[in-house]
Amino acid sequence: MTTHAAQLLVIFGVTGDLAQRMLLPSLYGLQRDGLLPAGLVVLGTGRTTLDGAAFAQLVREAIERRVPSNERDPVHIDALCARLNYQAAGLDHAEQLGALYERIRELRRGDVVFHLSTAPRWYSTICRALGQAGLSGTGTRVMLEKPIGHDLATAVEINTGVGQIFDEERIYRVDHYLGKEGVQNLLALRFGNALFEPLWNARHIAQVQITVAETVGVEGRGDYYDESGAMRDMVQNHLLQLLCLTAMEPPSDFDPAAVRNEKIKVLRSLRPIADDDIGSHSVAGQYTAGAIDGVAVPGYRDELGRASHTETFVALRAHIDNWRWSGVPFYLRTGKRMPRRATEIYLQFRAVPHSIFGGALIEPNALVIQLQPEERISLMLMSKTPGLDRSGLKFTQVALDLDLHETFETVRKRLAYERLYLDALEGNGTLFVRRDETEVAWQWVDGIFAGWKKAGVAPKSYPAGTWGPASAVGLIERNGFSWRE
Ligand code: BG6
Repeated sequence: MTTHAAQLLVIFGVTGDLAQRMLLPSLYGLQRDGLLPAGLVVLGTGRTTLDGAAFAQLVREAIERRVPSNERDPVHIDALCARLNYQAAGLDHAEQLGALYERIRELRRGDVVFHLSTAPRWYSTICRALGQAGLSGTGTRVMLEKPIGHDLATAVEINTGVGQIFDEERIYRVDHYLGKEGVQNLLALRFGNALFEPLWNARHIAQVQITVAETVGVEGRGDYYDESGAMRDMVQNHLLQLLCLTAMEPPSDFDPAAVRNEKIKVLRSLRPIADDDIGSHSVAGQYTAGAIDGVAVPGYRDELGRASHTETFVALRAHIDNWRWSGVPFYLRTGKRMPRRATEIYLQFRAVPHSIFGGALIEPNALVIQLQPEERISLMLMSKTPGLDRSGLKFTQVALDLDLHETFETVRKRLAYERLYLDALEGNGTLFVRRDETEVAWQWVDGIFAGWKKAGVAPKSYPAGTWGPASAVGLIERNGFSWRE
């Protein structure tokens, strides 16, 4: 299938939160660096009635809020605004939709990308209507935001609905973590260096931890979040994608089929958490009032304004049943209102097989790949503590530290959507999620929900500003490990 750089980007839900925070600032970043296809036109649509000037104002304000002042340039902001158009349309309003599709036809010069940044329950409806309007044929692609459904059944429903109109190669399911520089760098570290690969397996690695900790609460998205919770909002997508990239076999090529074929093998090898193991392999938590960096913050229920049993923290012990990872626990952990923001992958190597230093404490080596807030790679090694050692050698753990933020200080940090937009506009699906990945991930997560239901698991409380409920510590210490904090 030949793809051409798209000439039209249609953003459904352009007045929404994601567009304001990420999408419009990303388009600005691309415009500023001259990376948008020359003739690209952007058509935004939302329920709100706005004329062209009011829409341009909204875009300017989004850029003002999100783009650092030293990167804002009126010439480029004007150039972006010159590409923008707006057409109001209620998705349940046939006449307005008709007018929108007419506008799309008028603006269309070549390939089109439709970016659906609406509630997922609209995805099938929008695609069906695009199909009926003759706007889903060759040269059209559709980008879908997460969450794809609420569970396996709803994901299948959405994927089937969208799949009746667009074939799989033209569906771009977004997981914005895949667009992050640090995540790309994880691939570079693994497959651009020969050093680690021989050690990257159960023979040499004792345990892996993947942490995505946030300090924020629900940020005014209470209605969405309360329906979703940490498992659906973060584990089903971002954490499992990080797990795939950490654990997958080397793909033969950096192309959509090769990479996604390796990721799906990891997801298919994830051992379902059996009902009997649910208590020892999973923890759900919900934050109560506490403090972060010395600032008092309310509890989840207070933020939400009602009682709730939704989990804002999840910790899991996962196993990948294949040759490479047999017996290695993968601990996954994510939560809101944690003490600090950190996205990190931690691989602990096995201990030295025999110590020649008597009783000296020798900690195992570890590799820490920090993706956020700054990119950093640290290799933890044991070094002799300076001294004359009359009563035996002592060791200190030291870090071979690579501060990528400092190394590439002069290079602008890009938003994930800059890369994702460019890829979708150019028709490269490598960093997007394939149907089978979303569905197999849901299946695994649904199994945990079923186990929780059967065992009557309710989230345990943890004060905001801590690393989750005490039972999260038990989950890992039971195996003789501890969380990296
Ligand atoms: C989103 C979740 O997908 O990712 C949010 O819906 C979460 O709840 C966000 O805060 C985290 O993304 P990032 O890029 O800030 O790590």
